[in-house]
Amino acid sequence: MRSQVVIIGGGPSGLLLGQLLHLRGIDAIILERKTREYVLGRIRAGVLEQGLVGLLEEAGVADRMKVEGFPHDGTLISYGDEIFRVDFQEHTGTPVMVYGQTEVTRDLYDAREACGAPTVFNVENVVIHDADSAAPFVTYDVDGAQKRIDCDFVAGCDGFHGVSRKTIPDTVRKEFEKVYPFGWLGILSETPPVNHELIYANSERGFALCSMRNANLSRYYVQCSLDDKVEDWSNEAFWDELKRRIPADTAAQLVTGPSIEKSIAPLRSFVTEPMRWGRLFLCGDAAHIVPPTGAKGLNTAASDVHYLYGGLRQFYEENDSTGIDAYSARALSRVWKAERFSWWFSSLMHRYPDQTEFDHRMQVAELEFLRSNKAAQAAMAINYVGLPY
Ligand code: APR
Ligand code: PHB
Repeated sequence: MRSQVVIIGGGPSGLLLGQLLHLRGIDAIILERKTREYVLGRIRAGVLEQGLVGLLEEAGVADRMKVEGFPHDGTLISYGDEIFRVDFQEHTGTPVMVYGQTEVTRDLYDAREACGAPTVFNVENVVIHDADSAAPFVTYDVDGAQKRIDCDFVAGCDGFHGVSRKTIPDTVRKEFEKVYPFGWLGILSETPPVNHELIYANSERGFALCSMRNANLSRYYVQCSLDDKVEDWSNEAFWDELKRRIPADTAAQLVTGPSIEKSIAPLRSFVTEPMRWGRLFLCGDAAHIVPPTGAKGLNTAASDVHYLYGGLRQFYEENDSTGIDAYSARALSRVWKAERFSWWFSSLMHRYPDQTEFDHRMQVAELEFLRSNKAAQAAMAINYVGLPY
């Protein structure tokens, strides 16, 4: 079998790239390790930058998001008894779109199935061959048989635990990592959100976040120890802890209820360089990971897709490899800015186990500066809504 592009991974990165390529008549097959249902069962963040909104429109999958999504013009930040708002519209003239990543993925799968573009599920033993040649190919097993696809390019959209990043030789690849000494315990509940905008809270007991999916589906997080287990946290214990970490008048408004999902996620910053090796291009979580504090995971995957799609389109339509040759440097330039913002916001909002009183005073001083200085709020807003592609 032959395909112009083989996309490894049927998560948001692979699906978005596949849809954009399909609309330009560039054939791409997606190889996905799991089933569609499994992929759609993952609960992830739900804040979309305008760049991603534009890509979804370009891919023809923005209709439901425009109806069910919630534009947010700002966010609230609380520390101790203080709470203030960072106004995205005032500083950038643009909102973010609150729309669950699961819904983005669902819309992309629906579009892919509607157009009949090929996706192979339940693949195993995917191996990328001769990526550093002009004739790469991919082998994989499905239904007990080994298959081979010859291609021009491979897009490694297979996430942090995929095979693509590891295909780049250790002698070529350089990795950068920071592991945070805490996790996020998240809960999904069919309750009305406590506020119509997100609330990021730095309290003496640790970080908390009040978010949402829709008018009757709320998403909350509390910072927890890496030693915690989900079974250590009853719903009641979660709600009680959340109330202790947000301003009292907000806590008094909180509508609690049973959790329909509860999980603990570790936090890490991670970048691989380069994001290209020969005919292999890494996209999204295959190349980089951010702590979720700045909601940059999906949004940084989106800018990777934008750059790679543009390069592949230029190659096939204009016989010009400028775009693909510039891909890694262009993508990494924006990736590192997203890493910095996510690290900065995580460092500002969390309580670190080894934090000294001086460290805490630095946090309070920066929060005070952010609360009182429009230029500081503008800098945060510009990064939060998304730097230009
Ligand atoms: N072969 C085929 N598919 C694979 C393999 C493999 N060896 N390894 C992983 N996969 C699949 C996973 O099952 C998953 O569906 O690749 C997909 C990778 O998807 P994500 O991990 O979601 O990564 P990405 O598409 O880059 O999305 C980035 O979405 O999942 C969030 O936290 C992530 O916000 C980030 C954004
Ligand atoms: C979420 O709604 O899951 C969410 C929102 C903002 C973040 C992280 C997660 O920064």
